[in-house]
Parts: sequence; C-alpha cells; structure tokens
Amino acid sequence: LKHLLTTEGLPQRIIENILDTAASFVSVGERDVKKVPLLRGKSVFNLFFENSTRTRTTFEIAAKRLSADVLNLNINASSTSKGESLLDTIANLSAMQADMFVVRHASSGAPYLIAQHVAPHVSVINAGDGRHAHPTQGLLDMYTIRHFKKDFTKLRVAVVGDVLHSRVARSDIHALTTLGVPEVRVIGPRTLLPNGLEQLGVHVFHDMDEGLKGVDVIMMLRLQNERMQGALLPSAQEYFKNYGLTPERLALAAPDAIVMHPGPMNRGVEIDSTVADGAQSVILSQVTFGIAVRMAVMSICASH
Ligand code: CP
Repeated sequence: LKHLLTTEGLPQRIIENILDTAASFVSVGERDVKKVPLLRGKSVFNLFFENSTRTRTTFEIAAKRLSADVLNLNINASSTSKGESLLDTIANLSAMQADMFVVRHASSGAPYLIAQHVAPHVSVINAGDGRHAHPTQGLLDMYTIRHFKKDFTKLRVAVVGDVLHSRVARSDIHALTTLGVPEVRVIGPRTLLPNGLEQLGVHVFHDMDEGLKGVDVIMMLRLQNERMQGALLPSAQEYFKNYGLTPERLALAAPDAIVMHPGPMNRGVEIDSTVADGAQSVILSQVTFGIAVRMAVMSICASH
C-alpha cells in the first residue's frame, strides 16, 4: 500500500493487516502507544485545507510516536492565500524532502490529484476529501468495533443520519461490507440519503425506531449544515425528534450495543448528551484508537 485514499476496494487482508499492525503498537491497558523508530529520518507534512481537531492532532501524535519529523502547514498563513495552486504548493513542499503528505481538503478528489503528481517514494494519505472519503476514520472505526465486538461476521450495524454529506459513512460502509458484516443498515430521512445505497449492499430505513431494533453497533453521523443548501437543512428540533439518539431509542438496540460518533458532535441535534456520555458510548475510545491506527497506516505506506 503506497497511498491510502479510500476504503472502497481496499482488500480485506490489507484492512486486517492495518488493524493487526495498529494492535501491535498498543501495549499496557490496550490504550498506551509505544514510541518506535519506524519513520526515523522521514518527514511527514500535515496539510489541512479544512479544519480538524481529532484527525490532525492524532496524525501528528502518530507521526511523532513513529519518530518522524512532523510539519503542520498553517494553510491560512501560507501562500495559498496569494493564489498559489495546490500542485505548486505540493511541488514546493516536495522540494523540502517531504516523504508523506497527510491531506484534508474540501474538494473530493484533491488527495488523488496530489498522489498523481508526487515522486515515487512519496505517500499520500487522505485525511478527508469533501463528501467522498475519510479512510483512516473508517479504519479506526473498524478497530473500535473489533475491540468491543471481536467478530464482524455476526453483527448488525446501523449507520444513522446525514449519509448524503458524510465521507465517514462512505468509508465505514465500504469497510464494514469488506470485513463481512452481514447486516449493515442505513437510517435517515430521504433528503439526507444518497441514491443507490442498496447497491452497496445495505438495508435502508427511514424510520429510526424500526432501523435500530436489535442492532449491535450504532454509528451516528453529524448533521453537516456547512454542506447543505437551505432546502435540505432541517431544523435542529425537527431532526432530533425524528433522528436524535435518545436513551429511549438506544433501548431498542441490543442491550450491549455500542454507540459511536466520529465527532464533532452536535449534542441535542443528532445525539442526546445522556447517550453521548453514557455507559454504552465508545466515542472517546474511537479518538484514542485513532493514534495507533494512523501509526499503522503511515508505517505500512512508508514501507511500500
Ligand atoms: N472525525 C473527524 O474527522 O474529526 P475532525 O474533523 O475533528 O478531524
């Protein structure tokens, strides 16, 4: 694996290798991550053209735990604001001996464009492009599910909410189906579900209570107001009434169901605080596991 751009079409053996490699970085208490010299002497450039809290920070921690030199380009203070093109920016950073670019961009496909123009030894990792893909989020979500549920082949998983605008949902659905989850349900209003979901092998529900019955994993999605035009934008109250995860709705799932959310959360819009902070929530574990999973992705890509 040289670049990680999407989970779509990523073979099961590669996904499992990433999850196993991530597990090998985790030691005491299944949470602490060891520092290792795998990327010593390599330079990792974090290029976040869109804001981020979790992804940018955990990539930086992960690169440092791999002993890489990490550079975070401040996009707002860069010459992008003077009109320098994306590819000219990449060419100039490549001239500073970059070995890996971690890229988040509002335009779907931007990391692909970069991957086509870098030198053969340079890797590109997609940290979220438009509404297209967020593969390391998908992989850390798979790590989290495997940690808590062990066997993918016996699970019912519900992905709930604004799938239309969600790169996380796409990456999760591809990974879940590749790993053999027999029942992936997608729950949301018609206006926030893309056409053709059934072709991905998922079951579509518009009634949240129906869709949650008996599921083992609930993956909530953020209502992405910034990607909507007026007509699509439901009111927060209306959305919460129909698609908010409340304790009453959570009780419809399996008694040991886990609740996930990629963050950032809109509390009181897609999820009730009682559930977000409750005993079945693994939302902060997802963040922690992101460090080991991103270490795994970077070390595997660097050894291509
Ligand atoms: N889950 C996620 O991508 O969060 P950030 O936008 O904070 O990176």
